[in-house]
Amino acid sequence: RTVYLKDYRAPDYLIDHTDLHFDLEPQATLVKSRLKVRRNPEAINAGEKTLPPLWLDGVDLELLSIAIDGKLLPAQRYHEGEGGLTLDVETPEFELEVHTRIAPEANTSLEGLYLSNGMYCTQCEAEGFRKITYYPDRPDVMSVFTTTIVAPSKYPVLLANGNKVDSGTTEDGRLRVTWEDPFAKPSYLFALVAGDLQYVEDSFTTASGREVKLQLFTEPKNIRKCDHAMISLKHAMRWDEEVYGREYDLDVFMIVAVDHFNMGAMENKGLNIFNSACVLASPETATDGAFQRIESIVAHEYFHNWSGNRVTCRDWFQLSLKEGFTVFRDAEFSADMNSRAVKRIEDVSLLRTAQFSEDAGPMAHPVRPDSYMEISNFYTLTIYEKGAEVVRMIHTLLGPEAFRRGSDLYFERHDGSAVTCEDFICAMEDANNADLRQFRRWYEQAGTPVLTVTDQYDEASATYRLTIAQRTPATPGQTEKPPLHIPVSIGLIGADGRDLPLDDSGKTSTVLNLTEAEQTFTFSNIPHAPLPSLLRGFSAPVKLHYGYSEDQLLFLMQHDSDAFNRWDASRRLAIKALESLQAQYRDGSEMTEPAALIKGLSAVLENAALDPALVAMMLALPSAQELAEECEVVDAGAIIAARKFARNSLANALSAPLLARYQQLDQRKPYRPVADDIAERSLKNTCLGYLCATLDPSSLDLARLQLQRDENMTDVAAALGALVEYAPREEAEKYLGAFYDQWQQDTQVVENWFLLQSGSASFGTLERVRELMQHPAFEITNPNKVRSVISGFASRNFTQFHREDGSGYRFLAEQVSVLDKLNPQIAARLVIPLTHWKKYCDHESARMRAALQGIMDAGELSRDLYEVVSKSLACA
Ligand code: ARG
Ligand code: ZN
Repeated sequence: RTVYLKDYRAPDYLIDHTDLHFDLEPQATLVKSRLKVRRNPEAINAGEKTLPPLWLDGVDLELLSIAIDGKLLPAQRYHEGEGGLTLDVETPEFELEVHTRIAPEANTSLEGLYLSNGMYCTQCEAEGFRKITYYPDRPDVMSVFTTTIVAPSKYPVLLANGNKVDSGTTEDGRLRVTWEDPFAKPSYLFALVAGDLQYVEDSFTTASGREVKLQLFTEPKNIRKCDHAMISLKHAMRWDEEVYGREYDLDVFMIVAVDHFNMGAMENKGLNIFNSACVLASPETATDGAFQRIESIVAHEYFHNWSGNRVTCRDWFQLSLKEGFTVFRDAEFSADMNSRAVKRIEDVSLLRTAQFSEDAGPMAHPVRPDSYMEISNFYTLTIYEKGAEVVRMIHTLLGPEAFRRGSDLYFERHDGSAVTCEDFICAMEDANNADLRQFRRWYEQAGTPVLTVTDQYDEASATYRLTIAQRTPATPGQTEKPPLHIPVSIGLIGADGRDLPLDDSGKTSTVLNLTEAEQTFTFSNIPHAPLPSLLRGFSAPVKLHYGYSEDQLLFLMQHDSDAFNRWDASRRLAIKALESLQAQYRDGSEMTEPAALIKGLSAVLENAALDPALVAMMLALPSAQELAEECEVVDAGAIIAARKFARNSLANALSAPLLARYQQLDQRKPYRPVADDIAERSLKNTCLGYLCATLDPSSLDLARLQLQRDENMTDVAAALGALVEYAPREEAEKYLGAFYDQWQQDTQVVENWFLLQSGSASFGTLERVRELMQHPAFEITNPNKVRSVISGFASRNFTQFHREDGSGYRFLAEQVSVLDKLNPQIAARLVIPLTHWKKYCDHESARMRAALQGIMDAGELSRDLYEVVSKSLACA
């Protein structure tokens, strides 16, 4: 069953009010729903005589009764079908009451209502509400919800969306609470939580002077890990007022942390639910990376209150309308809170590693897909990250003030409605008299565009010409790729290392509008042949080729005024080096030192004026996955050997400056998760990793010493990581064991302890991974545990996963089949590393494909897994 965008039709009926009543019991929760139903005037066909039937989605529900206007409906008036039921309708307006029974305890899919460590919680996006009750479970049906929860007194905290309007006790001594959400919303934003929870509380005064209560709920053991999320929330609330003019709208904003969660977090109206790993942190238990991730996810979910909730999506093909825009918003927030260049580099690295490979694989789809089998499979890097890049390009093309005029108009025009990506673009155009007609192709066309740049300098006329050609490779179902409108931000660097003025105004960066398949841009009054700095700030999600020599890259690393492009030059240099090492490995010739790279990084390392975070990022070699993305045909063995050789060469050649930098930065000060300190720790720990790679005993001593200081997890985890990779095996085992003993009560730390092993080239053998799955802390029904052990192995441990005998592939296939019975969403994500089989060289490719075929043959698959596996196998 495939759903197509072209088949979209407005809903036949609207639900003005939804009144829900829950009687919570683990195995038999009673759900009563009372709906005010009305024929949708916009769906009435001319000359219509009879009312169409009402379709209600429903999955895994036990239907107890249906009544219309208080009268029980006889069985002949409704028909249960695949995925729901249809009702015969006699009047254009009526009240529908449906009673159903569900079993939260048996729900391992973590969609709908389920239990996590004994607490009830929900996840409804995209189509989980239909696992709670029969309902038109589609985002263009927006309703005002009232929710009453009745539960035994061992669940003292009972939460739902909106404001609490009533509470009490039932005759049999159970607790009862009623919540009312005045803002009409689609069912996917519904939420309910019940548990024995504690909370921290704070408050926020909005720009217009309203007082909002902020609460963060967790299991009692985690109550000390809430501060950072609360601070982040207040920063996000202020930022959205200042930058977008958006205020919060309810009296209370609640966040709940749960351990069993399929994704990162969910923006349910007034009641965000978070994966514990994305909200809980303390200096002793969480790394800098976790602190920053929490800040950005808390902001992301909060920002959805406007970009997602007040203005939502008409249908799921428009998912990027809220996700792409909200990721752009949270990225700008993080950039403002921390270092802009560092945030940009991190985001682009993720895009290049994971989104580019998605866009080149069997699941490639446009930012606005035109079909899907299972929408859960489309919560992708393309919808989120490429979608955010598309919004960023609009921002770049229009400029910040015009973009703000556009977003103001968008929120004003569409507040309270469910709209499309087209509506977003129209608001941007209408507010500014802009023309984004060709730009719209970014929403329709899949695949990563490739730009090829050549240039020419004419001394006599002092003219410089840049010629840019664009081409987008074919993707499944899409062979024609007309040219896109691409903003290419550039500067021209003179021989003295400074930017040349590009016009009379003296500006040194400009955005070229590339709209043709090939286009030449001319610059006059250029005194001598410049070196172009291309795609500054990564102004478009493309691959760009220009024949930079090693010397030119070294020059850019030193002089480019655009911090992103300085880093990018170092990356280009590293990739050049690693590609020639791979070639040497394949020819069987001896690998030679990457001299230019060593030279460049040595200069960077000695440059005290550079942001240490930027130095750390320049020093880090591209990951194996990122290198694989760059290859025409991937030879996993060659990538591993090349990376290892380059890492060792750098470590040995630069050991003196690495040690100097390590010692200079290893000043112990009280832990604070602020950009400057994070930058210093990242460089310090990058140096430590390299130093240990030399296997020099005194370097390992540095790591041993650092491991002992347990006031901050960033330093401890870096030291432990280095020791696991480079210390003698027995010693590393000892550290791992001691670490577990110390932290076994802390779920988030244990997850990282798993990941440290499964993702380690030397430690994370298949045997070890199987052992970890037997460990008492492992739980196959917990997605975080599955991700840290199984995905850690399959997507971070290139060396072991791609072992030549294919055992890594078979293992993954086996686990995917097991998980598909428990949690289809997780199974369909876990399988992704196998789906890129076509890119690998013959022997690897055949074994990966065979493993996929094995999954297909193993029995009936969920719709989630079937879509991914069948599309990957079909890709011949
Ligand atoms: N809207 C949520 C977020 O971005 C993600 C929900 C994902 N749910 C799912 N079933 N895939 O922030
Ligand atoms: Zn989101």
